Amino acid sequence: MSSQVEQIKAKLGIVEIVGSYLKLEKAGSNFKACCPFHNEKTPSFFISPDRETYHCFGCNRGGDIFSFVQEIEGLDFFGALEVLAQKAGIELKPVDIKLKSENERFYAILEEATKFYHTALLQSLEAKQYVKNRQLTEETVRNFRIGYAKEDWSSLLNHLLQKGFKSEDIEKTGLIISSNQSLRHPGGRYYDRFRGRVMFPLSDVSGRTVGFSGRIVVASEREEAKYINTPQTTLYDKSRLLFGYDKAKSEIRKKDFCVLVEGQMDLVSSHQAGVINTVAVSGTALTSYHLNLIKILTDNLVMAFDGDTAGISAARRGINIALSLGMEVKIALLPDGLDPADLVVQDKTEWISAIERATNVIDFYLSALARKNYDSRTLNKKVSEDVLPYIARLTNSIDQAKFVSKVASFVGTKDEPIWDELKKIKLDFPDSDFLPGTSLTNNIPIKISKFSLIERKLFGLLYWLEGGRESELSPVVLRQEMSDILGQEKFTRQEESYLKDKNQLILEAEIYFESSANLKQGANELILVLKEEVLKQELDLLLNKIRELENTSDEEGMSGLLKRCQEITKEINNLKKTG
Ligand code: CTP
Ligand code: MN
Repeated sequence: MSSQVEQIKAKLGIVEIVGSYLKLEKAGSNFKACCPFHNEKTPSFFISPDRETYHCFGCNRGGDIFSFVQEIEGLDFFGALEVLAQKAGIELKPVDIKLKSENERFYAILEEATKFYHTALLQSLEAKQYVKNRQLTEETVRNFRIGYAKEDWSSLLNHLLQKGFKSEDIEKTGLIISSNQSLRHPGGRYYDRFRGRVMFPLSDVSGRTVGFSGRIVVASEREEAKYINTPQTTLYDKSRLLFGYDKAKSEIRKKDFCVLVEGQMDLVSSHQAGVINTVAVSGTALTSYHLNLIKILTDNLVMAFDGDTAGISAARRGINIALSLGMEVKIALLPDGLDPADLVVQDKTEWISAIERATNVIDFYLSALARKNYDSRTLNKKVSEDVLPYIARLTNSIDQAKFVSKVASFVGTKDEPIWDELKKIKLDFPDSDFLPGTSLTNNIPIKISKFSLIERKLFGLLYWLEGGRESELSPVVLRQEMSDILGQEKFTRQEESYLKDKNQLILEAEIYFESSANLKQGANELILVLKEEVLKQELDLLLNKIRELENTSDEEGMSGLLKRCQEITKEINNLKKTG
């Protein structure tokens, strides 16, 4: 595999690949363009032919031709490998099942199962009748490769064994269950997980099956779940998979918004109704990973909820994350008790117009509250609890101010008290998932602090100088200064974590400092800011301690802390004067 990657890299240049997607301008020895991964008017996306890498100073994404194609095409690594192999005219060798890596064997098993279930559906009158009753067309069944698992304990298992796959591997894809785990099944060692169900293959971003969701066909007397899903496996993680994403992605980019529904039937029906920019979560709540997958394609999200605000309350966390990511969230209101699939069956234009009528989540809440005839005290309380947290999450201050005014006039007051209420809301960081597509290259946290940006630039500069770049600034001096500011221990730790991205960091430094006439002065400015940030962090810690001591009688401790605070404030002010 890796030799094929090397072969491809040797044949294709980064400029050629990126240039086939973007209009490039020359910038010294590098090229630049407007970044395709975030909105911008002036180019901050740089391509280095020497290093075969790219980096965007606006959104901080970077990598090589593989990560670029992954991200711009919405593919995983293997998908990008296929695309690039084709461009390079290199034929990827088909590998014998036995020689395939474990993951490749899992993919092969899941692909075989997809075909097996799909054929079974086409041959089963009962299953065909079921999808027909749910008004799915033949084209939809084909397009989504919908299948059928017979009411049988081992037909899939036998089929896969006969194809040469090992039961240990099949078990790891979640398709069969070891009977040691369950006393219910008497016979063989393994049995099929899915029985008597219509099967929806769940695909990864490049369309390969990684799992299944199976819906029961005949409601049985046994208490069985309506849907069962593949459990967590190496290939399937429900908190990272959006059902339909592979089919929806280019339409989401084109329409510049994404419709989010909940469930297999809703997704499939929505696509059938022509709303192809729809994706679904599958048996789980919306995560920041899901949202980042969407955000690569668009900043605009439409979520569908029926009747009351109960559904949207349950989705609060997901909405909050979306708003923190700077996305615009709209709510499409559905008639009471109906889901998108029901609506499409009734009349697909109803579903389409519900999406067209979608309103911003904050407006949606305000008009829902307006209909409730609350007295003014309850209304104020509801606004504070239900609406302000969303406004607090907005990343655009102009939007925020607009909604503050709106809420103020809604409850009949001035803007100031609303701002005061808003400031009381504590925002905790939603969660620490990382951006998709970055696990194979560099992980980029969603938010990057000023401190780490500066630290990163300085390490880049340091590596650049140590690599032999001529300058009056000595790398030995710079290294010492940085270590003094950060402390030896932290410096070593940080150096270790940056070292693996060394080339990337050098490229960033090269571009950042290339145009600065005086490199030494530029570096000194950064050093000062870094110092200031370190002091500010210490000040924050001290202030927290002071708050803790306020309720005790430890006056000595308190006066020590206050003294240190004064010293730090003085130091910060001095830095500002020098800077
Ligand atoms: N779900 C699940 N496990 C269940 C029930 C539901 O994983 N036991 C998931 C499925 O992805 C399902 C979604 O939650 O599609 C929504 O559930 P529900 O509203 O109950 O079902 P519908 O999507 O309306 O399914 P159908 O129309 O087939 O009844
Ligand atoms: Mn339904």
